Amino acid sequence: MIFSPIKIGRLEVSNRIVVAPMCQYSAINGIMTDWHTQHLMQLGYSSAGLIMVEATAVEKIGRITHNCVGLYNNKCIFSLKKNLQLAKSVASNKSYFGIQLAHAGRKASTQRPWEGRSALTKEEKPWKTICPSPIPFQETWHVPYEMKLFDIERVKKQFISASIKAVEIGFDLIEIHGTHGYLLHQFLSPISNKRKDKYGGKLENRMRFPLEIFSSVKGVLPKDFPLGMRITGTEWENNGIDENEATIFVKELEKIGCHYVCVSSGGNTPNPKIPVGPHYQVHLANKIKKNTKMVVRTVGMITDPLKANNIIINQDADMVAMARAFLSNPRWVWDAAKVLNHDIEVPPQYARRI
Ligand SMILES: Cc1cc2nc3c(=O)[nH]c(=O)nc-3n(C[C@H](O)[C@H](O)[C@H](O)COP(=O)(O)O)c2cc1C
Repeated sequence: MIFSPIKIGRLEVSNRIVVAPMCQYSAINGIMTDWHTQHLMQLGYSSAGLIMVEATAVEKIGRITHNCVGLYNNKCIFSLKKNLQLAKSVASNKSYFGIQLAHAGRKASTQRPWEGRSALTKEEKPWKTICPSPIPFQETWHVPYEMKLFDIERVKKQFISASIKAVEIGFDLIEIHGTHGYLLHQFLSPISNKRKDKYGGKLENRMRFPLEIFSSVKGVLPKDFPLGMRITGTEWENNGIDENEATIFVKELEKIGCHYVCVSSGGNTPNPKIPVGPHYQVHLANKIKKNTKMVVRTVGMITDPLKANNIIINQDADMVAMARAFLSNPRWVWDAAKVLNHDIEVPPQYARRI
């Protein structure tokens, strides 16, 4: 059931409920603000087994917006450390905290969702974006700069140094952001990757960059430090990554010691036809779980505790992540425990609520 423990690398996670990573677009110069403090502290005592901190840029140009969190200089590192310590100070010692490390590639230099989500205009201080090929996300967006081999090496180094810092700061787990149309996804997808070198063309080549990033990070982490990736189960496009390619990719991740994948979808094209609805991505997790040995997390419009529990009972996935359900109810886990007749630890200050 969702309240049974699960092993991820060296961690024994107390339950299978995960707070999905959620960008708050509220940082200043990559540095977390008071908004993050309250956001992470209220999720800190949610009793979820794993709480993911938002997509965090490994280099400045890898931020989606001017207001994304970074892990690329001492000020960012200090603010993340402080906020993690505050969130941990109110959390049960049964909740772990992970960080999602990311690079937005051609989807960087955009406005915040509530400001339009378009490419930054000249007045809004845009920056040069990067991508495997100089193809913009959509016509009106920035034309990205095609990455040279030294850019590839630089980004790898940035992932490595951000990962080392994440461990030093006290994170329990690292997740590499490999989906939603951001840089690693851009390499994997034949839609955004038209390279003629060893990083483009057939699937084996398109997988190379994300796999190299994964291995480089893995190589600098302590033994069995939990490391996973968020991946694309399908791009919902005829000419894009599909479930079969996603499965092959996961088999490669398996070979290099990936502890889990979170299967999401889409994000690399402006208007894919997504059959959005409750549990609309669960079948993607199921396909990967059935065809690999990987620990699989699912996500996407999961809100009902009984139905979430059935995902685990039916072995469609090993963990369930939720984003918006936690925004509207940070006490989702407490309520689910009641519904499923399960005892969980809540802060003693609030215990009389139950
Ligand atoms: C406010 C918000 C911010 C998000 N930021 C991220 C992010 O930083 N990284 C990521 O991989 N997904 C991000 N997502 C996607 C969620 O993690 C999740 O996959 C998606 O919302 C579907 O789950 P849900 O139906 O439970 O909300 C974000 C979603 C929301 C609502």
